[in-house]
Amino acid sequence: MVFFGRSGAEACRFFNLNLVDWQGARLLDCPGGPGSFAALARRAGLDVLAIDPLYELPPEELERRCREDIHFTMERLRQSPTVRADFELGPYQQAKLDALELFLSDRQAHPETYQAGALPELALEDNSFDLVLSGHLLFAYAPLADGGLHEFDCFDLAWHRRALAELLRVCRREVRIYPAHSITVPARVHPYVDPLIAALPPGWEASLESTTYDQGAVGETPMLRLCRVAEP
Ligand SMILES: C[S@@+](CC[C@H](N)C(=O)[O-])C[C@H]1O[C@@H](n2cnc3c(N)ncnc32)[C@H](O)[C@@H]1O
Repeated sequence: MVFFGRSGAEACRFFNLNLVDWQGARLLDCPGGPGSFAALARRAGLDVLAIDPLYELPPEELERRCREDIHFTMERLRQSPTVRADFELGPYQQAKLDALELFLSDRQAHPETYQAGALPELALEDNSFDLVLSGHLLFAYAPLADGGLHEFDCFDLAWHRRALAELLRVCRREVRIYPAHSITVPARVHPYVDPLIAALPPGWEASLESTTYDQGAVGETPMLRLCRVAEP
């Protein structure tokens, strides 16, 4: 899996998120990756915690891995049939490099808000976040045979059930997950979405929303939104 992070502005688009609506809220971003969303959200007045397994590494190592992974990902995208011919990869790449710079400086300034951890088990209290966001891990890294990017089965449906249960456990209001689609041509609602929604615990409602985020995909590229409709 690549250590590749979107900018805060990109994350707001794919999570359909207006930060003004969540001022003062406690927010979890898992995985945070080398993205600048946590920095942007903190500056907008949210109380943010970003979690990623690679945050245990020193900053120099994170920067080295991220620069390599941006290079690798751009090479892959240039040849990928999942990216439209008219999609401009230059600005897309620059946003990742800018996100990395902001991530590194924000993590240095606020180290306590970047914690090492991994789904499907987070060392966090029940119902401790108003909003829980998860970008480009669930669905995207399902096995290749199930419409994801991973050549092995580590993030199969059973793993997704456990990861989603964990995201819901720590959340008191809303969970948003992007993408909720397969990495195929055309993109479709991911085959794990229905079984996960069917098994939601009582008190949660799910919806699929379209977003304005464009990664060059053709087809359906929804975000999955899960709202608590009953007090935890
Ligand atoms: C493609 S990046 C996505 C980063 C960011 N959320 C975004 O949308 O740009 C995927 C991230 O998932 C992290 N990761 C890998 N396994 C994980 C796990 N079991 N739980 C949480 N994060 C994981 C990786 O370290 C990597 O930073």
